[in-house]
Amino acid sequence: MAKLKSVYFCSNCGNESPKWMGRCPACGEWGTFVEELVGKNDSSNEEDTRSFSGIKSQPLSLGEIKADEEPRINLIDTELNRVLGGGLVPASVVLIGGEPGIGKSTLVLQTLLKLPHIRSLYVSGEESARQIKLRADRIGIQNENCLVVCETNLDQIFTHIKNTLPQLVVIDSIQTVYSDALESSPGSISQVRECAVSILKFAKQSGIPVMLIGHITKEGNIAGPKILEHIVDTVLQFEGDQHYMYRILRSIKNRFGSTSEVGIYEMNSSGLREVINPSELLLTQNHEGLSGVSIAAAIEGIRPFLIETQALVSTAAYGTPQRSSTGFDIRRMNMLLAVLEKRAGFKLSQKDVFLNIAGGLRVSDPGLDLSIISAILSSSLDISIDRNICLTGEVGLSGEIRPVNRIEQRILEAEKLGFSSILIPAHNLKGFTAITAIKIETVRKVEEAFKRLF
Ligand code: TYD
Ligand code: MG
Repeated sequence: MAKLKSVYFCSNCGNESPKWMGRCPACGEWGTFVEELVGKNDSSNEEDTRSFSGIKSQPLSLGEIKADEEPRINLIDTELNRVLGGGLVPASVVLIGGEPGIGKSTLVLQTLLKLPHIRSLYVSGEESARQIKLRADRIGIQNENCLVVCETNLDQIFTHIKNTLPQLVVIDSIQTVYSDALESSPGSISQVRECAVSILKFAKQSGIPVMLIGHITKEGNIAGPKILEHIVDTVLQFEGDQHYMYRILRSIKNRFGSTSEVGIYEMNSSGLREVINPSELLLTQNHEGLSGVSIAAAIEGIRPFLIETQALVSTAAYGTPQRSSTGFDIRRMNMLLAVLEKRAGFKLSQKDVFLNIAGGLRVSDPGLDLSIISAILSSSLDISIDRNICLTGEVGLSGEIRPVNRIEQRILEAEKLGFSSILIPAHNLKGFTAITAIKIETVRKVEEAFKRLF
């Protein structure tokens, strides 16, 4: 039995210390040290001789190394393939993080079920086999090649893998797995780290890709040390509002592809459906003649989509006006309100302002500014904005409209959806040569945009 010792870990960065400290010297965070009991032969022991393939490494010159693109595993799911950079890379470890109930287990299970020719093993430490069966029934795909096991002991998991020889492994979730080599409880920093390192080693030596599911803390970070994210090859984040059906899958880190891709899903009664054309879904409601609504041509990652921004402005009933924003940064909204006060005589202190981005999506694209500021003014004046106009542009502090990225894609998306004109920042027109059916109007200042719209 290994001798126990007490060590302290920073819950933010995983830094280890023999004594408690108020501030982590590695990452500078305060009050993050937690005590854990570990065996003397724990994770820091690098001489782990466990080998899965028995192959010893050999130094090679760069000229000898074959650099052919390794064939990726096509996961059928177009959104997941896209976010991973064109499919799953063999021998890679992918971490999928997200809030409870967002649909992580559903996403991985349906992905496995859609692969009839790939032998896969779904290891669950959270649910019983029966619960997984019920979920599979809801998804409604039969697949004899998808094996399920409920297990949380890491060595047992490796034994199951050796016995079943799967081509793809899913572990749901990394926080429930524990290794006998450590005394600390499952989910503790040292356990999560040790298990993740062993799993990575396994994946690299066996060539079998592993998908890990990770929990999210209250602050929205993947629970466990930050190094968990450094250990794995790819980190995906699954986001969305549980009360809405749309979910966004973002790539936060990807050793084999770009991190600017996003996948969009819709949760329905039979699992998650890929949303190939998000604009069409986000714009279906007809608000002809309603004030406070405008359409923005936004970019999320490198994907253009049109989204409805809605604002409601009313006279403040109490002394302090209310400000509320769903799906958009409230500080940025306050900045836009201040610009409105300066440029359009909007009386900040007398109005309640509520803002909403349709579909429960959270969008951080600054190109949304022009649409938001217009929606607020539209509600304040009670004049509707023409439904055939689409807006894009960042608003600066002095009311200038600043250029946005990927303007061609935004314009083409608006054109594709049948908008008759689009308002874009004047600076963006430079170098734009494509001939479009949509009328492109340029604006330099918010005042110009307001004159055009109202
Ligand atoms: P789940 O995948 O268990 O989330 P997580 O693993 O991230 O905690 O699923 C979350 C929710 O999705 C759950 O409340 C039920 C719902 N759901 C559907 O709406 N349709 C479905 O087909 C399935 C399987 C789940
Ligand atoms: Mg789950």
